[in-house]
Amino acid sequence: MNDRYAPDGRVDVMEDSIPFYQPVGQECELFERAFRHRLPLLIKGPTGCGKTRFVAHMAARLGRPLITVACHDDLTAADLVGRHLIGESQTYWADGPLTRAVRQGAICYLDEIVEARKDTTVVLHPLTDDRRILPIDRTGEQLHAPETFMLVVSYNPGYQNLLKSLKPSTRQRFVALTFDFPPSAVETRIVTHESGVEQAMAQRLVEVAQRLRRLAGIDLDEAISTRLLVYAANLIRAGCEPVMACIAAMVEPLTDDADTAAALKEVIRAGFAP
Ligand SMILES: Nc1ncnc2c1ncn2[C@@H]1O[C@H](COP(=O)(O)OP(=O)(O)OP(=O)(O)O)[C@@H](O)[C@H]1O
Ligand SMILES: [Mg+2]
Repeated sequence: MNDRYAPDGRVDVMEDSIPFYQPVGQECELFERAFRHRLPLLIKGPTGCGKTRFVAHMAARLGRPLITVACHDDLTAADLVGRHLIGESQTYWADGPLTRAVRQGAICYLDEIVEARKDTTVVLHPLTDDRRILPIDRTGEQLHAPETFMLVVSYNPGYQNLLKSLKPSTRQRFVALTFDFPPSAVETRIVTHESGVEQAMAQRLVEVAQRLRRLAGIDLDEAISTRLLVYAANLIRAGCEPVMACIAAMVEPLTDDADTAAALKEVIRAGFAP
């Protein structure tokens, strides 16, 4: 069930609905084929370009539960697989999210997989090749993944340093998709749908964002994401003046450097000049 908060404060409850995802290419077909053929999938792409939304959309479309794990550098294999916990009178075994996903035949999504410790990714190996098994050393169990189990991982290559890449033996167990910011027409549709602004306004926002993304000599860690464009549009829909909305959503979150911010603001003002 999804609660959708409309900009005017209404709450539309859409039972069993499929989260909106606007395809850019053939990614939905590829996901579905990977699912049907029991192949694990790796998704790469910058922040805010739709990776999480895509996985949520596909899981709902395929009618499978989705179990998401946000990986971090303290994430251990036990956090994924499970551990013994101390109860009132005895210890008991508690499945981790990966084990739960295997038992349920769910889609397990490991977000920012490169953040996880190296020993964590090793537990994925027997699960992501043709064996499709999850050995649980501590209980002596060996789970066979059902047909509907799928492992999806994603990361943002931009954040990576050399120490934080996946080992070739892990990478080469996945089929992979690269995501990027969508072409203007597609991004306009996304912004319109997500925020409810008029199409002309969405188009204007996308044009401004594209100019900002192309701006030479600007030192930003990462370009303006579709997520921030949607934020700007939401502010506008809520009554904010467009230049102010763009500065709040598309400049300030990106940089602390005054010169960089000034250059970005100039492009925004020009984009909304009458
Ligand atoms: N193709 C798309 N269809 C629908 N919405 C999209 C699409 N691409 C981006 N969005 C919008 O952008 C927002 C951010 O997307 P999402 O959270 O999926 O990014 P992400 O790639 O997972 O980012 P991160 O790497 O930071 O987790 C979504 O909430 C949605 O509003
Ligand atoms: Mg995400």
